[in-house]
Amino acid sequence: MDRQRAGAWQSLHNHARTLAGVDLREMFQQHPRRCRELRLELDGLLFDFSRQRVVGETMDLLVKLARACGVEQQRERMFSGDPINVTEKRAVRHVDLRLPPKRRDREINRVMERMETLAVALRSGKLLGVRKRPLRHLLHLGIGGSDLGPRMAVHALSPFATKPDIHFVANLDPDEWAPLLDRLDADATLVCVVSKSFTTQETMANAAVVRAWLEKSLGRKQVGAQLLAITAHPGRAGEWGVPAERILPFWDWVGGRFSLPSAVGFPLMAALGPRGFAEFQAGMHAVDHHFMAAPLRGNIPVIMALLGVWNGNILGARSHAVLPYSQGLHWFPLFLQQLEMESNGKSVDQQGRSLTRDSAPVIWGGVGTNAQHAFFQHLHQGTFFTPCDFIGFAHPRDERYLEHHKQLLANLLAQSAALAFGRTAEEAAAAGVGPAQIPWRVFPGNRPSSTLILDRLSPFNLGRLVAIYEHKVFVQGVLWDVLSFDQWGVELGKEIAVDVCKNMKGEDSLVDVATQELIDWINRA
Ligand code: F6P
Repeated sequence: MDRQRAGAWQSLHNHARTLAGVDLREMFQQHPRRCRELRLELDGLLFDFSRQRVVGETMDLLVKLARACGVEQQRERMFSGDPINVTEKRAVRHVDLRLPPKRRDREINRVMERMETLAVALRSGKLLGVRKRPLRHLLHLGIGGSDLGPRMAVHALSPFATKPDIHFVANLDPDEWAPLLDRLDADATLVCVVSKSFTTQETMANAAVVRAWLEKSLGRKQVGAQLLAITAHPGRAGEWGVPAERILPFWDWVGGRFSLPSAVGFPLMAALGPRGFAEFQAGMHAVDHHFMAAPLRGNIPVIMALLGVWNGNILGARSHAVLPYSQGLHWFPLFLQQLEMESNGKSVDQQGRSLTRDSAPVIWGGVGTNAQHAFFQHLHQGTFFTPCDFIGFAHPRDERYLEHHKQLLANLLAQSAALAFGRTAEEAAAAGVGPAQIPWRVFPGNRPSSTLILDRLSPFNLGRLVAIYEHKVFVQGVLWDVLSFDQWGVELGKEIAVDVCKNMKGEDSLVDVATQELIDWINRA
């Protein structure tokens, strides 16, 4: 396997040399039909990668790499519940959460039913607080995977949401939560503490403040009726004071950043109602099925993953931009940062050896058109080249705004065209640019991007989008031979923070000299 894999990587490097000097303009001139050939469709979803710096042979070689790395076997292992998260000795079963209810484990269905009962009561005003008033606000406390997924999805699907009024708090910084607590009505607020471990410093510190805020208004003993915990450690939530009937469990085999279809998605269910949440899960499941069943060459997450590897490992890109032309997807690049970088930002292979090639690039991005007026200068004329994913919806959510929506899409299409084909000095001159300005008005082009168009923004389509990227991340982990489902890299800083915090409070705690200098300066300030 190792030799086959090395051979597949080498063939890609050799092939890249044969393509050197052929830019996207030339590729389209030589083969105008490439836009029809380098694209995949899945029930109203188009993935166009004709503006990637690839030809048919590149795709053949990339698919060979996927085979040599065992993508199909690893995919099978994940779907059959093997403990592929080896350093944490866990299976990786988030795909089981979005199976149709009839095919789902009874334990999962039981939790889903409890979520539904709570969500329906909350939405209908029948969930009452301590003072017998309907709970109208949902305050979600969590961080990382216990925040970004639900926050992103609730924001994206807010046009479909009816009730309740939902707020998210993640940061230790009181500036995120203090103004909210001043504004919210404690009598009418359901506080939802979301933490897989139920030990995360930020979440527990914020939860303590919020519980004290409830207690101040409602009395010390009673607040249980206004608490909800979502965790893989129900015992810890119970000890913290959440009544058993208000604890929604999930399981150690659900990674935090893959937990949106579990009870962690409760705010999304509260916003959309159980049916909307089921549509979201159905969208994820449709992609799971596609990922499992489609041949590698016609498999959207696989091809996305391979293109990422082509751009990064073979062509040398250092980062990857995600550019949704949808205000609803404002949080999507931030959600993907955790999904991709926490999963595959690794330097050691599955056997514990140092990697000999790069793993995950920096993932970043922002919504169009706003981003055009912020960092697109860098994308078009910067010295780095940054592959991009453009994401858009064919139809507006509200047909009254069709003209506006067309303008939005036109911008998406124009930007990807400008990146791909650029503008030469001659073209600039022909467009009326004076000779003195030419150097600054030339666009190099040949900057690759993919375009993902879905028919419209809906719960189902958001589910599809999230699942596509989840499986892309899985495939890239296999290609880079890293363990995608652990995150040991976040631990050291957490440990040091405990000592630093003690030191800052004047307790006896040794820290390194550079940190001590900074603490001393802060203490003097
Ligand atoms: O610090 C990283 C991390 O462990 C993430 O992987 C996780 O999503 C986040 O913290 C929150 O963890 P928890 O859900 O246990 O509070």
